[in-house]
Amino acid sequence: MSQTKISAPHFPLQTSLPNGHNFRGKIGVFDSGVGGLTVLKALLPRLPEADFIYVGDTARLPYGSKSQATIARYAVSSARFLVDQGAEFLVIACNTASALAIDDIRDAAPVPVLGVIETGAAEAHATSATGDVLVIATDATVQSHAYANACAALGLRGIEKACPLLVPLVEEGWIDHPVTSEVLDIYLAELFAQADAAGLRPDTLVLGCTHYPLLRGPIERALKAHAHRGQIRVIDSAEATARHVAAALPVGTGTEFPAAGRATMRFYATDSVTKFRSLGTRFLGQPIEDVSLVDLGG
Ligand code: DGL
Repeated sequence: MSQTKISAPHFPLQTSLPNGHNFRGKIGVFDSGVGGLTVLKALLPRLPEADFIYVGDTARLPYGSKSQATIARYAVSSARFLVDQGAEFLVIACNTASALAIDDIRDAAPVPVLGVIETGAAEAHATSATGDVLVIATDATVQSHAYANACAALGLRGIEKACPLLVPLVEEGWIDHPVTSEVLDIYLAELFAQADAAGLRPDTLVLGCTHYPLLRGPIERALKAHAHRGQIRVIDSAEATARHVAAALPVGTGTEFPAAGRATMRFYATDSVTKFRSLGTRFLGQPIEDVSLVDLGG
């Protein structure tokens, strides 16, 4: 896998609209599939007046097993599509695209772009007392070391673990399933062995893939086997990203408030709209009615 063009994260997070921008409330949210809907779900209560345009590049999913050049090409075409639809701010709600293509997207898109790696690392920084952080993510995200670099930029030590079986298990709907529990037990045991070998005392686990928030319950249960190490806090970068977006935009208050239900959402998928509707409803936590099919190329 090519590991070129991986840049250091930008801290402090300065992604925001320029002063004087007449913001019309159009926010583009992009993921390789439905996982980014966990970020949209977190955005809704914070930006109840926004117009969200979501694209899930389901035809080209998974990104997590592909090369940097391919991920960048796919992500840039998706980002351009969102800008063409009027998006004034882009949320890259995909860890893999954020890890491997954020600079390409920023070069291609004439609007502010926020990824989920920087926000996840910033949240880990705010949470961890020991400064030692565990990260689970896709293979491509782990190979890029984007999280380890983002953690290091904040003075944290990050240990990353690729968990390639988790995305298909979530897509299959096997959330509270014995196979998923077993897979999680194995991955976490290997991750803690890695941390032990490096002499780390982790107290924080970052969910470095937007599919993983659906597994938060099973992950927290699996962590109980490691309770003798002390409490491990689970960080969901969707929540952290939503807070950063709300703070960067001149709409809403930037604080948590109950959903007013006035946000509008438009959904685009590059593969079956029927599958996007049924799977996406589970990720968003509310029914998805209209999904348009879009062809973003090969
Ligand atoms: N949503 C992607 C992420 O956050 C994972 C799915 C994929 O491999 O495309 O990394």
